[in-house]
Amino acid sequence: MSELWTAEAMVAAMEGRPFGQLPKTVSGISIDTRTLNRGEAFFAIKGESFDGHDFATAAVAAGAALLVVAEGRLPGLGRLTCPMIVVKDVLVALERLAEASRRRSKAKIIAVTGSAGKTTTKEALRHALSGSGTVHAAERSFNNHWGVPLTLARMPEDTDFGVFEIGMNHAGEIRPLVKLVRPHVAIVTIVAAAHLGHFHSLDDIARAKAEIFEGLEPDGHALINRDDARWRILRKAAKDAGVKHIHGFGEHARATYRLVQAVLKPDHSSITARIGGTEIVARIGAPGRHMVQNALAVLGAVHLVGADVAKAATALGAFRAEKGRGARHVLAHPDGAITLIDESYNANPASMKTAIALLAGTQTGQDGRRIAVLGDMLELGVHSAKLHAGLAEPILEAGLDRVYLAGEAMAALRDALAQHVAVDYRPTREALQPVLLAEIGGGDAVMVKSSLRLGFAGLIDALLEKYPPQQASTAADEG
Ligand SMILES: Nc1ncnc2c1ncn2[C@@H]1O[C@H](COP(=O)(O)OP(=O)(O)OP(=O)(O)O)[C@@H](O)[C@H]1O
Ligand SMILES: [Mg+2]
Repeated sequence: MSELWTAEAMVAAMEGRPFGQLPKTVSGISIDTRTLNRGEAFFAIKGESFDGHDFATAAVAAGAALLVVAEGRLPGLGRLTCPMIVVKDVLVALERLAEASRRRSKAKIIAVTGSAGKTTTKEALRHALSGSGTVHAAERSFNNHWGVPLTLARMPEDTDFGVFEIGMNHAGEIRPLVKLVRPHVAIVTIVAAAHLGHFHSLDDIARAKAEIFEGLEPDGHALINRDDARWRILRKAAKDAGVKHIHGFGEHARATYRLVQAVLKPDHSSITARIGGTEIVARIGAPGRHMVQNALAVLGAVHLVGADVAKAATALGAFRAEKGRGARHVLAHPDGAITLIDESYNANPASMKTAIALLAGTQTGQDGRRIAVLGDMLELGVHSAKLHAGLAEPILEAGLDRVYLAGEAMAALRDALAQHVAVDYRPTREALQPVLLAEIGGGDAVMVKSSLRLGFAGLIDALLEKYPPQQASTAADEG
């Protein structure tokens, strides 16, 4: 069993009180008893709907090596036989351990924020850096007030590269997280209307994203989307935060990491880019202009942390979009294969436009149609109706053949599209599903996208069940 922490180091970092006979080491850290592995430390975090202390018994049953619990909850837990570290506040203790992890680490650290593409960029970095050393990154999004400290506390001591996704819904959320992470390179992928409900304008969103520069290590690098309309705001914020090294990535002539040429194919892209003074030619295994932009950020970051750029460029050829974030399936159909693009994990105006463009560039079979299946974009506040209706323009520009819509907010798009393209609207995903299953045909290219809560992953599952996939090309294939 590999050791992550000694109990002694944990007690010291968290200023905790040992209770019972602590083991010498723990093999990992868990906050969820359903995924806890034997030998791990269980942190009883209090979330929005659950309190980890209520699962202490389950953690012991699952083989937790020790529990980290709050002083105030100890009376109710005293009869458990498992050793514990008692602290004032469990989340604060996790943050202290995260700080200790950062202190002991010699890894080069990269942090990623932005309105879209954080997880995709993080995964592409994992891929690209793995030829240069050991990489630590969260398995999932894990970008919030518990996800970031958890990911940091889980970083093995001998990690060469750490990649951290940092997200936000409100101003002020990124600052404390990036101060834990202390990156050498901070990436802003794109600024767009996501969680706009809590902001007045995109400028305000940009300023909130720019908090990521406040946690950079001295001499650290800001790596900003040079093609983003808010580049100036971001650059100024980086300067104000005292950042000395500010770089842009994109096709802009002044970008440090500059796209020279891109050839977008239905299933991949080929790019030429200037990275650190040399021209790099790379194939990117996941299609779409947005992936090209993510790849430029990746190559820039790889260069800035001193890893092997050539190896990274090669690795990007095998990169595939993940489940819910652009993963593709080819479904068997007697009249010709159906291409299914799974974008069911999330949606905001920026990523919707990206995905619509992606569909427009996707090949269909003979007589096949390009079909968008779209659900509500949530958390857009008072701007919601306008932003939903605003998707009409990219849809018409893309020349899609059919549009299926579901969700309350999508009614605005239905009205905007009504006279211009074949639209079928249903109030819910459940109501849409049978219609979709009946109408999709051989040769079609189908892109399914929505905010997670609409349950559009269910549509993907239903299609996969009805038409067995010939080849699923997801990140999982690459192992
Ligand atoms: N650079 C980009 N620009 C615009 N859209 C993008 C970009 N990269 C990815 N996307 C789109 O955004 C979707 C979500 O990608 P991803 O999960 O990587 O974003 P995220 O920022 O991690 O989201 P979350 O805030 O939910 O964690 C993708 O499926 C794709 O449609
Ligand atoms: Mg994410």
